[in-house]
Amino acid sequence: MNEDPAMYAAAASALELIVDGARVGLGSGRTASVFVRLLGARVRDGLRVTGVPASGAIETLARAEGIPLVALSESELLDITVDGADEVAPNLDLVKGHGGALVRERIVAAASRRQVILVGAEKLVQQLGEHFAIPVEVIPFAAGPVMRALKAAGLFPTVRTNAAGDREDMNQNGNLTFDCALAAPLTDARAARALEAQLRAIPGVIDTGLFLGTASLVLVGHADGRVESMTRGGGGT
Ligand code: A5P
Repeated sequence: MNEDPAMYAAAASALELIVDGARVGLGSGRTASVFVRLLGARVRDGLRVTGVPASGAIETLARAEGIPLVALSESELLDITVDGADEVAPNLDLVKGHGGALVRERIVAAASRRQVILVGAEKLVQQLGEHFAIPVEVIPFAAGPVMRALKAAGLFPTVRTNAAGDREDMNQNGNLTFDCALAAPLTDARAARALEAQLRAIPGVIDTGLFLGTASLVLVGHADGRVESMTRGGGGT
Protein backbone atom coordinates (compact mmCIF):
# COMPACT_ATOMS: atom_id res chain seq x y z
CA MET A 1 0.00 0.00 0.00
CA ASN A 2 1.47 3.38 -0.98
CA GLU A 3 0.25 5.48 1.94
CA ASP A 4 1.64 8.48 3.79
CA PRO A 5 3.98 6.70 6.26
CA ALA A 6 2.82 8.67 9.32
CA MET A 7 -0.85 8.02 8.55
CA TYR A 8 -0.10 4.38 7.83
CA ALA A 9 1.79 3.94 11.11
CA ALA A 10 -1.06 5.46 13.15
CA ALA A 11 -3.71 3.47 11.27
CA ALA A 12 -1.81 0.20 11.62
CA SER A 13 -1.48 0.83 15.34
CA ALA A 14 -5.24 1.42 15.65
CA LEU A 15 -5.89 -1.85 13.86
CA GLU A 16 -4.36 -3.67 16.83
CA LEU A 17 -7.25 -2.37 18.97
CA ILE A 18 -9.89 -4.07 16.81
CA VAL A 19 -10.91 -7.44 18.20
CA ASP A 20 -12.94 -10.10 16.45
CA GLY A 21 -16.63 -9.25 16.57
CA ALA A 22 -16.04 -5.53 17.19
CA ARG A 23 -18.59 -2.92 16.20
CA VAL A 24 -16.50 -0.06 14.80
CA GLY A 25 -17.33 3.57 14.05
CA LEU A 26 -15.53 4.61 10.89
CA GLY A 27 -14.54 8.28 10.93
CA SER A 28 -13.88 10.34 7.84
CA GLY A 29 -10.96 12.07 6.18
CA ARG A 30 -7.67 10.84 4.72
CA THR A 31 -6.28 9.21 7.87
CA ALA A 32 -9.52 7.41 8.68
CA SER A 33 -9.54 6.20 5.06
CA VAL A 34 -6.13 4.58 5.52
CA PHE A 35 -7.51 2.82 8.60
CA VAL A 36 -10.57 1.61 6.66
CA ARG A 37 -8.37 0.19 3.90
CA LEU A 38 -6.24 -1.69 6.45
CA LEU A 39 -9.38 -2.90 8.24
CA GLY A 40 -10.78 -4.10 4.91
CA ALA A 41 -7.67 -6.20 4.32
CA ARG A 42 -8.12 -7.80 7.75
CA VAL A 43 -11.79 -8.50 7.03
CA ARG A 44 -10.83 -10.26 3.82
CA ASP A 45 -8.44 -12.34 5.95
CA GLY A 46 -11.32 -13.42 8.16
CA LEU A 47 -11.68 -10.77 10.90
CA ARG A 48 -15.37 -10.35 11.72
CA VAL A 49 -16.39 -6.74 12.36
CA THR A 50 -19.27 -4.46 11.53
CA GLY A 51 -18.85 -0.77 10.79
CA VAL A 52 -20.87 2.41 11.01
CA PRO A 53 -19.54 5.03 8.54
CA ALA A 54 -19.51 8.73 9.46
CA SER A 55 -19.70 10.02 5.89
CA GLY A 56 -20.85 9.03 2.43
CA ALA A 57 -17.26 8.87 1.20
CA ILE A 58 -16.24 6.49 3.98
CA GLU A 59 -19.36 4.41 3.40
CA THR A 60 -18.41 4.00 -0.27
CA LEU A 61 -14.84 3.06 0.68
CA ALA A 62 -15.93 0.63 3.41
CA ARG A 63 -18.34 -1.12 1.02
CA ALA A 64 -15.61 -1.41 -1.61
CA GLU A 65 -13.34 -2.93 1.06
CA GLY A 66 -15.98 -5.51 1.95
CA ILE A 67 -16.58 -4.27 5.51
CA PRO A 68 -20.14 -5.18 6.58
CA LEU A 69 -22.01 -2.00 7.52
CA VAL A 70 -24.83 -1.59 10.01
CA ALA A 71 -26.93 1.29 11.33
CA LEU A 72 -26.50 2.72 14.82
CA SER A 73 -28.58 0.68 17.19
CA GLU A 74 -30.89 1.67 20.02
CA SER A 75 -29.63 -1.07 22.29
CA GLU A 76 -25.91 -1.49 21.62
CA LEU A 77 -22.99 0.90 21.74
CA LEU A 78 -20.19 0.66 19.21
CA ASP A 79 -17.02 -0.73 20.77
CA ILE A 80 -14.72 1.88 19.27
CA THR A 81 -14.67 4.74 16.77
CA VAL A 82 -11.48 5.46 14.85
CA ASP A 83 -11.27 8.91 13.30
CA GLY A 84 -8.88 11.72 12.36
CA ALA A 85 -8.62 15.29 13.62
CA ASP A 86 -7.36 18.66 12.48
CA GLU A 87 -5.84 19.78 15.78
CA VAL A 88 -5.12 17.95 19.05
CA ALA A 89 -4.46 19.85 22.28
CA PRO A 90 -2.33 18.34 25.09
CA ASN A 91 -5.51 17.39 27.02
CA LEU A 92 -6.85 15.59 23.88
CA ASP A 93 -9.45 18.26 23.09
CA LEU A 94 -9.82 18.40 19.32
CA VAL A 95 -10.74 20.51 16.35
CA LYS A 96 -12.44 18.37 13.71
CA GLY A 97 -14.65 18.92 10.70
CA HIS A 98 -12.41 20.21 7.95
CA GLY A 99 -13.64 17.25 5.93
CA GLY A 100 -17.24 18.42 6.33
CA ALA A 101 -18.63 15.48 8.31
CA LEU A 102 -18.50 16.74 11.87
CA VAL A 103 -22.12 16.10 12.88
CA ARG A 104 -22.05 12.45 11.87
CA GLU A 105 -18.58 12.09 13.38
CA ARG A 106 -19.99 13.46 16.65
CA ILE A 107 -22.94 11.08 16.55
CA VAL A 108 -20.80 8.03 15.83
CA ALA A 109 -18.29 8.97 18.54
CA ALA A 110 -21.05 9.57 21.10
CA ALA A 111 -22.51 6.16 20.29
CA SER A 112 -19.14 4.48 20.98
CA ARG A 113 -17.43 3.29 24.14
CA ARG A 114 -14.22 5.01 23.05
CA GLN A 115 -13.03 7.41 20.37
CA VAL A 116 -9.50 6.82 19.09
CA ILE A 117 -7.95 9.59 17.03
CA LEU A 118 -5.21 9.13 14.41
CA VAL A 119 -2.98 12.08 13.49
CA GLY A 120 0.47 13.03 12.32
CA ALA A 121 2.67 15.09 14.63
CA GLU A 122 1.84 18.27 12.68
CA LYS A 123 -1.68 18.16 14.14
CA LEU A 124 -0.46 18.57 17.74
CA VAL A 125 -0.97 22.10 19.08
CA GLN A 126 -0.61 23.80 22.43
CA GLN A 127 -3.88 25.72 21.98
CA LEU A 128 -6.86 24.92 19.76
CA GLY A 129 -7.21 27.36 16.89
CA GLU A 130 -3.46 27.69 16.29
CA HIS A 131 -3.67 26.47 12.71
CA PHE A 132 -7.33 25.93 11.84
CA ALA A 133 -10.55 27.89 11.93
CA ILE A 134 -13.36 26.27 13.94
CA PRO A 135 -15.97 24.73 11.61
CA VAL A 136 -19.59 25.42 12.55
CA GLU A 137 -22.45 23.56 10.82
CA VAL A 138 -25.42 25.81 10.11
CA ILE A 139 -28.96 25.30 8.79
CA PRO A 140 -29.11 27.32 5.52
CA PHE A 141 -32.33 29.09 6.59
CA ALA A 142 -30.42 30.61 9.51
CA ALA A 143 -27.29 31.62 7.56
CA GLY A 144 -27.75 35.40 7.86
CA PRO A 145 -28.54 35.61 11.59
CA VAL A 146 -25.87 33.02 12.43
CA MET A 147 -23.28 35.00 10.46
CA ARG A 148 -24.24 38.13 12.41
CA ALA A 149 -24.09 36.30 15.77
CA LEU A 150 -20.69 34.75 15.00
CA LYS A 151 -19.21 38.13 14.09
CA ALA A 152 -20.73 39.65 17.24
CA ALA A 153 -18.97 36.89 19.20
CA GLY A 154 -15.64 38.16 17.83
CA LEU A 155 -15.13 35.42 15.24
CA PHE A 156 -14.25 35.80 11.56
CA PRO A 157 -16.57 33.38 9.73
CA THR A 158 -16.44 32.48 6.06
CA VAL A 159 -18.90 30.18 4.34
CA ARG A 160 -17.20 27.07 3.01
CA THR A 161 -17.45 26.75 -0.77
CA ASN A 162 -17.16 23.80 -3.14
CA ALA A 163 -13.82 22.73 -4.61
CA ALA A 164 -14.25 25.10 -7.58
CA GLY A 165 -15.00 27.95 -5.17
CA ASP A 166 -18.02 29.09 -7.18
CA ARG A 167 -20.85 28.21 -4.78
CA GLU A 168 -21.59 27.47 -1.15
CA ASP A 169 -20.84 23.89 -0.20
CA MET A 170 -23.93 22.02 0.98
CA ASN A 171 -22.87 19.01 3.04
CA GLN A 172 -24.41 15.53 3.31
CA ASN A 173 -26.95 16.84 5.84
CA GLY A 174 -28.03 19.69 3.52
CA ASN A 175 -26.29 22.22 5.77
CA LEU A 176 -23.61 24.89 5.36
CA THR A 177 -20.26 25.04 7.12
CA PHE A 178 -18.96 28.36 8.43
CA ASP A 179 -15.22 28.22 9.08
CA CYS A 180 -14.68 30.58 12.01
CA ALA A 181 -11.19 32.03 12.36
CA LEU A 182 -10.34 33.21 15.86
CA ALA A 183 -8.71 36.49 16.83
CA ALA A 184 -6.28 34.37 18.87
CA PRO A 185 -6.01 30.65 19.73
CA LEU A 186 -8.12 29.45 22.66
CA THR A 187 -6.06 29.96 25.79
CA ASP A 188 -7.14 26.82 27.65
CA ALA A 189 -9.75 24.08 28.07
CA ARG A 190 -12.12 26.45 29.84
CA ALA A 191 -12.01 28.96 26.98
CA ALA A 192 -12.72 26.16 24.50
CA ARG A 193 -15.76 25.03 26.50
CA ALA A 194 -17.04 28.57 26.85
CA LEU A 195 -16.79 29.12 23.09
CA GLU A 196 -18.45 25.80 22.32
CA ALA A 197 -21.38 26.62 24.61
CA GLN A 198 -21.70 30.09 23.09
CA LEU A 199 -21.74 28.73 19.54
CA ARG A 200 -24.19 25.93 20.26
CA ALA A 201 -26.60 28.44 21.83
CA ILE A 202 -27.02 30.30 18.52
CA PRO A 203 -30.33 29.27 16.86
CA GLY A 204 -29.53 27.54 13.56
CA VAL A 205 -26.14 26.22 14.69
CA ILE A 206 -26.26 22.42 14.56
CA ASP A 207 -22.82 21.63 15.90
CA THR A 208 -19.22 22.77 15.98
CA GLY A 209 -15.84 21.21 15.24
CA LEU A 210 -14.81 21.54 18.89
CA PHE A 211 -14.69 17.95 20.16
CA LEU A 212 -13.94 18.50 23.83
CA GLY A 213 -13.39 15.54 26.11
CA THR A 214 -14.47 12.98 23.50
CA ALA A 215 -11.15 11.30 22.66
CA SER A 216 -9.74 8.71 25.03
CA LEU A 217 -6.64 7.87 22.98
CA VAL A 218 -4.68 9.72 20.30
CA LEU A 219 -2.19 7.77 18.18
CA VAL A 220 0.42 10.06 16.68
CA GLY A 221 2.12 8.60 13.62
CA HIS A 222 5.60 9.61 12.50
CA ALA A 223 7.20 9.29 9.08
CA ASP A 224 9.78 6.81 10.43
CA GLY A 225 6.98 4.46 11.53
CA ARG A 226 7.02 5.32 15.23
CA VAL A 227 3.66 5.82 16.93
CA GLU A 228 3.19 7.77 20.15
CA SER A 229 0.13 7.15 22.33
CA MET A 230 -1.48 10.05 24.16
CA THR A 231 -4.15 9.25 26.72
CA ARG A 232 -6.43 11.62 28.56
CA GLY A 233 -4.60 12.88 31.62
CA GLY A 234 -1.81 10.44 30.85
CA GLY A 235 0.71 12.30 28.69
CA GLY A 236 2.50 10.44 25.94
CA THR A 237 4.56 7.29 25.39
C1 A5P B 1 -13.68 15.29 8.79
O1 A5P B 1 -14.85 16.06 8.94
C2 A5P B 1 -12.66 15.65 9.80
O2 A5P B 1 -13.07 15.73 11.11
C3 A5P B 1 -11.40 14.80 9.68
O3 A5P B 1 -11.36 13.77 10.61
C4 A5P B 1 -10.27 15.74 9.90
O4 A5P B 1 -10.47 16.84 9.02
C5 A5P B 1 -8.92 15.09 9.62
O5 A5P B 1 -8.84 14.72 8.29
P1 A5P B 1 -7.50 14.21 7.63
O6 A5P B 1 -7.20 12.89 8.23
O7 A5P B 1 -7.85 14.13 6.18
O8 A5P B 1 -6.45 15.24 7.91
